Amino acid sequence: MLVAPSLLAADFADLHGEMDMLNSSSADYLHVDVMDGMFVPNISIGFPVIKAIAPLASKPMDVHMMVIEPDRFIGQVRDCGAHLMNVHYEACRHLNRTLQLIKDAGMKCGVTLNPATPVSMLEDVIEDVDLVLIMSVNPGFGGQKFIRESIKKVARLRNLIDNSASKALIEVDGGVNAETGKELAQAGADILVAGSYVFRAPDPKLAIDSLKAL
Ligand code: DX5
Ligand code: ZN
Repeated sequence: MLVAPSLLAADFADLHGEMDMLNSSSADYLHVDVMDGMFVPNISIGFPVIKAIAPLASKPMDVHMMVIEPDRFIGQVRDCGAHLMNVHYEACRHLNRTLQLIKDAGMKCGVTLNPATPVSMLEDVIEDVDLVLIMSVNPGFGGQKFIRESIKKVARLRNLIDNSASKALIEVDGGVNAETGKELAQAGADILVAGSYVFRAPDPKLAIDSLKAL
């Protein structure tokens, strides 16, 4: 299993320490949540902070844009050094164009689905995306309860990908821990995002290892 700890649950007063922990952990990516207070009812971190941590991070950055019309920020996300830019299906007026613009900017592109958006909405873009992120909570906050329907949704997405020429990875975000992670792994997930489960653990590196082992 690939693991992407979500910085949202980190100690923002000690980002140096948190980056040292992540760099020396078995994590595969660094998941960074950007919110605009409009698409989701919260505001998190923005580009100046991402730029400040980028040189400290040895793991590729997976930037999750919970932002309306994310096309406006493709250049800034790229300039922050992101490896992958995740945009929400629900926040893009012309998703096909947005995905192309992300790739033209030299990043991998991911499309994210809210809990209420069915996997079938991706049928016509699945071969154009590098990754699909399934939200297993409503986006905007860490520490929420896992929505169990997401497990079946991951299985449906696995089926869609396996029956197409797509090589898209399946990532899941929200309420992930060793128990929900195990069920998600069985359903076909490739990458688990985890905020609270990692950063609230007595030993965050062990928590990351426990997800890696799934
Ligand atoms: C929520 C964010 C998540 C969040 C997950 O909108 O997209 O990445 O940090 O937090 P946990 O793992 O605590 O549910
Ligand atoms: Zn996220």
